[in-house]
Amino acid sequence: MTDFDRERERRLTFAIISHPDAGKTTITEKLLLFGGAIHIAGAVKSKKSSRGTVSDFMKMEQERGISVSTSVMGFDYAGRRVNLLDTPGHADFSEDTYRTLTAVDSGLMVIDSVKGVEERTRSLAQVCRMRTTPLVTFLNKMDREGRPPIELLDQVEAELDITVCPRSWPIGQGKDFRGVYKIAEDRVVLFRPHETDIDETARTIEGLDNPELDVEVGSLAARLREDVELIREVYPDYDREHYLAGQLTPVFFGSALNNFGVRELLDFFAAESPPPLPRKAAEREVHPAEDTFSGVVFKIHANLDPRHRDRIAYLRICSGVFRRNKLYLHVRSGKQFKSANPTAFMAQERTVIDEAYPGDIIGLHDNGTLRIGDTLTEGEHLQFIGIPRFAPTIFVKVINKDPMKSKQLNKGLDQLAEEGVAQVFSRAQGSDRIIGVVGQLQLDVIKHRLEHEYKALCIFEPVDFSKAAWVSCSRKDRLEAFIGKYSHRIVYDRGGHPVYLAENQFLLDRRREDDSDIDFRWTADVHGSAGATL
Ligand code: G4P
Repeated sequence: MTDFDRERERRLTFAIISHPDAGKTTITEKLLLFGGAIHIAGAVKSKKSSRGTVSDFMKMEQERGISVSTSVMGFDYAGRRVNLLDTPGHADFSEDTYRTLTAVDSGLMVIDSVKGVEERTRSLAQVCRMRTTPLVTFLNKMDREGRPPIELLDQVEAELDITVCPRSWPIGQGKDFRGVYKIAEDRVVLFRPHETDIDETARTIEGLDNPELDVEVGSLAARLREDVELIREVYPDYDREHYLAGQLTPVFFGSALNNFGVRELLDFFAAESPPPLPRKAAEREVHPAEDTFSGVVFKIHANLDPRHRDRIAYLRICSGVFRRNKLYLHVRSGKQFKSANPTAFMAQERTVIDEAYPGDIIGLHDNGTLRIGDTLTEGEHLQFIGIPRFAPTIFVKVINKDPMKSKQLNKGLDQLAEEGVAQVFSRAQGSDRIIGVVGQLQLDVIKHRLEHEYKALCIFEPVDFSKAAWVSCSRKDRLEAFIGKYSHRIVYDRGGHPVYLAENQFLLDRRREDDSDIDFRWTADVHGSAGATL
C-alpha cells in the first residue's frame, strides 16, 4: 500500500444534520473532546442566533470570520483522519447546508428524543437520501423524559424512508435513564448523571445476563432483556453494504450533554464509515485513488473585514494529491491557479499545508476568481456535478436608491450570488434584478452587506411569487413558445437558464399539468444542468 493509498483510505469526512436545539453544537464539542482535539468543554461556540435578528447574525458571522476554522474541524481518531464539516444552524441558510452535504461521504443525524423527527432534520435527511449518503442516527437527550425508543425508531423509519438498525439500546429514560446496552459487544455502559469522565471502562458490565446488571439497575435489567429479545426479532441485523448504500441507518442512544454514548458513535464512524467516495463529473466518474489531482469548490466564505477583501473558498479534494504552489487548471476560466497558502483545519487551528488528500477540505484564499461549483485539475476538463441550487421561495425586486452607485450594487449582487448567499435573476428585458432566497433573514443579511461592504443602498420590493422551477424542453421551439406565452413569469438565472415563477404550489402544479411536455425542476446544478424533478 502506498502512502497515498493509506492517507486516502483513512480520511473520514462527515457532517451533522439536525433541527436547531437537538444538540448539534453539544455533540460537535463532545466529538472533538473524545477525539482529543479539544480538552475543555465550551470551546465550540454555538452559532445559534437566539433572536434571529440580522445584528445577531452579523455579529456571529463576524466572529466566524475571525475563526473561520470552525467550519471544518479536523482531528485524528483510531487511525482515521476525521474531517467534521459544520453546517449553519439557521434554517434560512439551508442552501449552504445542502451544499456542504455534497462535500461529505457520510452524515450523522442528531434527533432530540423528546421532540422526535423535526422539520429540518426531515429536509436535510431527504438531501442525504437523494445522494445516497450513509447516515448514522443519534437519539439525543435520553436523560430527559422523551418518547419511547420504539416509537422514535418507527418515526425515523416511516418519515425518512430508511431502515433502522439499533446498535445500542437505552436502559430506562429521563430520570430513570441508567445507561445503554451495546448490542454488538454484548456490553452495558452505565450512566451516572453528572459524571462526565470520558473514560467509561469503569462503568461497564460485560454480558446481558450478568447478575451485576440486576444489582446496578434493578428491575430495569429484566426490562432490558425483554427489549433486546424483541428488537433482535423486529429489526434487521446490521449490514454494512446497506449502510454504505444509504438504505440502513445504525442508531445509537445517548446524552451528548452528559458525554454519554458519544464514544460509541465515534468508534462506529472510525470502523464503518466510508473513506472518500468516487464523485461524478459531467464527463466521467472520478475515483479518489486516481493519481492526478482534482477538487471542487463547494462553499465560499467572505471575509467580513472590509479592509481585507479576500474570501476563502472551500475545496474538497476529490482525487490525487493537492500540493501547495503547484499550478492547476481552473477549468471554468481555462486559466492557471496556484495557492501559496492553502490552509487545513485541524481542531481549532488553521494551518498552512503543503499537501492534502482526497476527502480533505482545504481553504484557498481568493480575491474573486473562484465560484461555488468550480473545479481545479491538473489539466483535464472536468466539471463536477451535483452541487444543486434549490428553487427559492421568497423573491424581491431590487430597486437602486442611488443611481450613482449602480455599479457597486451590481458588483455586490454578483459577488453575493457567487458566494451562494442569494440567487440573482434577471428579466429578459430591462435591467430588473430579482433576488431569490429561502429565508427572510437571508434578505436582511444581503441588504446589510450591500450597504456596508459595497456602499450600495437599495430597496427590496416584494414580488408576488413563492414558487419557482427551472424549465427546459427537448424541443427548442416549444420552450421558446412557452417562454413567450408566460414571459411575465419568466426570469433567467445567472447562467441564462429560464425559471418559471408561480404564486403558489397549486398554480405551479396546474401549469405542469397543462404543459406536460415542459420539464419543471426544483433544483439546478450550479452549472445550469437540470436537477431533481419536482
Ligand atoms: P443545536 O446546536 O443543535 O442548536 O443544539 P445545542 O447543542 O446548542 O443544544 C441545545 C440545548 O440542548 C442546549 O441547552 C443543550 O445544553 C441541550 N442539550 C444538548 N444535549 C443534551 C442532552 O443530552 N441532554 C439534555 N438534557 N440537554 C441537552 P440550552 O439550555 O439551549 O443551552 P445552554 O444554556 O445549556 O447552553
